[in-house]
Amino acid sequence: MTSRNLVVPEISFEDVTYIRNLIRVRSGMVLEPEKNYLLQSRLKPFAKQEGFGSMADLVSQLRQTSYGPLHKRVVEAMTINETSFFRDLVPFQILKDRLLPEVIQANVDIKRLHIWCGASSSGQEPYSILLTILHHFPELASWDIRVIATDISQQMIKRGQEGRYGSFEVNRGLSPPLLNTYFSRHGMEWQIRDDVRSMIEFREMNLAGSWLGLPRMDLVFMRNVMVYFDMETRKDILRRIRGILASHGYLILGATETTLAVDDHFERVPVNGTSVYRVKKG
Ligand SMILES: C[S@@+](CC[C@H](N)C(=O)[O-])C[C@H]1O[C@@H](n2cnc3c(N)ncnc32)[C@H](O)[C@@H]1O
Repeated sequence: MTSRNLVVPEISFEDVTYIRNLIRVRSGMVLEPEKNYLLQSRLKPFAKQEGFGSMADLVSQLRQTSYGPLHKRVVEAMTINETSFFRDLVPFQILKDRLLPEVIQANVDIKRLHIWCGASSSGQEPYSILLTILHHFPELASWDIRVIATDISQQMIKRGQEGRYGSFEVNRGLSPPLLNTYFSRHGMEWQIRDDVRSMIEFREMNLAGSWLGLPRMDLVFMRNVMVYFDMETRKDILRRIRGILASHGYLILGATETTLAVDDHFERVPVNGTSVYRVKKG
């Protein structure tokens, strides 16, 4: 990588390097040089919002103090939170037609289902999972169902907890029957019903940090986040997922993500033209 690649207007090469390191060390995310536009487009308004005269002033403050809330907010400001209800559709069809029937069968005696959505952004993904369960598996009403949704971004977790979405967001992926059954309208926004909202445990959690308090999982959704991590972080996350995934459980990754060449202990299970993963036996 040449220093030219790291050039961001209004901020020195050393400051860019500092920010890239901060993000990598604290979140595992690698900010590729071609994503330097993000530094400019996110950091500049962030610096202004935090009361700094320039990005350089912000970085100077960060460099003078040890890691604290301001550093954390910078890392959060650099996350990419793109998401939508039923994103890519096929994983949710597989969830309904194959994964849920299998894990329900495996847990029929204990009547318990644990699902983790490890990079839940503003909540559309965990709500899509929960709506799939509520809408298609009414027989699970008496089961102990836990859907745990975590993300590094406090702001995204707050949005998920609120469960309030604009018409653009609900029109991206939500069918009219689901919208009408599980949401109520508030002016230009739609909010998920309170009883549904309260079924998801939203928590702030850094995948590159401690995972304390996660129970054994039947399904782990880790979609469209591994792609931002370096190889070491990906390996570490997959190793830790193996530690909490039930033997009958499945890992669901994003369309461009895979365990292949990252963790040999997972096997790929092809379904409907895509793949899910489970831990190899033995
Ligand atoms: C592109 S979104 C994907 C959202 C959702 N999984 C989907 O596929 O639609 C990536 C999310 O990962 C979160 N993220 C990035 N680094 C993280 C980390 N180290 N720990 C937890 N979440 C992280 C970001 O805050 C962001 O909300």
